[in-house]
Amino acid sequence: MTVIGEADAGDDPADGWFPESVAARYDTPGGANAPEAVTAAVDVLEDLADGPVLEFAVGTGRVAAPLAARGVPVSGIELSRAMAARIADKPGGDAVDVTIGDMTTTRVAGRFSLVYLVFNTIDNVTTQDGQVDVFRNAAAHLRPGGLFLVEVGLPDLRRLPPGQDTVPFTVAPGVDGGGYVGFDQYDVVTQEFTSNHVTVSPDGTGRFRRIPFRYAWPAELDLMARIAGMSLKHRWADWDRSEFTAESTKHVSVWEAGSST
Ligand SMILES: C[S@@+](CC[C@H](N)C(=O)[O-])C[C@H]1O[C@@H](n2cnc3c(N)ncnc32)[C@H](O)[C@@H]1O
Repeated sequence: MTVIGEADAGDDPADGWFPESVAARYDTPGGANAPEAVTAAVDVLEDLADGPVLEFAVGTGRVAAPLAARGVPVSGIELSRAMAARIADKPGGDAVDVTIGDMTTTRVAGRFSLVYLVFNTIDNVTTQDGQVDVFRNAAAHLRPGGLFLVEVGLPDLRRLPPGQDTVPFTVAPGVDGGGYVGFDQYDVVTQEFTSNHVTVSPDGTGRFRRIPFRYAWPAELDLMARIAGMSLKHRWADWDRSEFTAESTKHVSVWEAGSST
């Protein structure tokens, strides 16, 4: 069985958790790549943009390219060269100005009307200090009154009985003897969690991928924003701007930079 984090041939360790072998599958149709999912996000981002925008962790340009295709000037910061290499293949992608770097520290030239970080990627930064750095770096790129938007899921802690730390999210046995089991494992003290994916092929060979994350509650993100000189402007349950409630499974939150940032 292939174990945790082992790179496939051709993967560059500098690309982190999104090397060539992941980038090659990232744009598979459906799910977050479905046209209606992308359009829902791009509609909101276009509406909030009032000039150039910057996407942290821009990936393969899933959102950035269609936003640029609508005429919004889009820049991006991305850790993985393998992911970023795919942006220019998409309509609008040629216009996206990409810098390879870490969104906790990397600066690009200019002041933006909107910085955004979508698809749960704040959780890829696995320490509280690192997540605060993301907020600080976003604020540093905003002009006064500029906006920082984060889309992120909420951890499924209500499904954790006392004494248990693991929540399965899929068990999909294949008819041919293969299968896929996925589970999240939480450390509720540090708020670190791992997403675990066990895939078994029909010939009995398998792969175990264990990817680290850190969750932060909306209130904690509000405090990070305040540390960075921003305050909450919107919190929606989804891109449709529906009300955020106790039953929400994710949120789209927008903070506004003060005149001092
Ligand atoms: C789930 S993908 C999201 C990509 C894109 N934003 C989207 O919505 O499709 C996460 C991306 O974040 C990038 N990433 C993770 N940590 C990063 C960091 N500290 N700085 C910059 N990019 C990072 C990964 O390389 C990957 O491309």
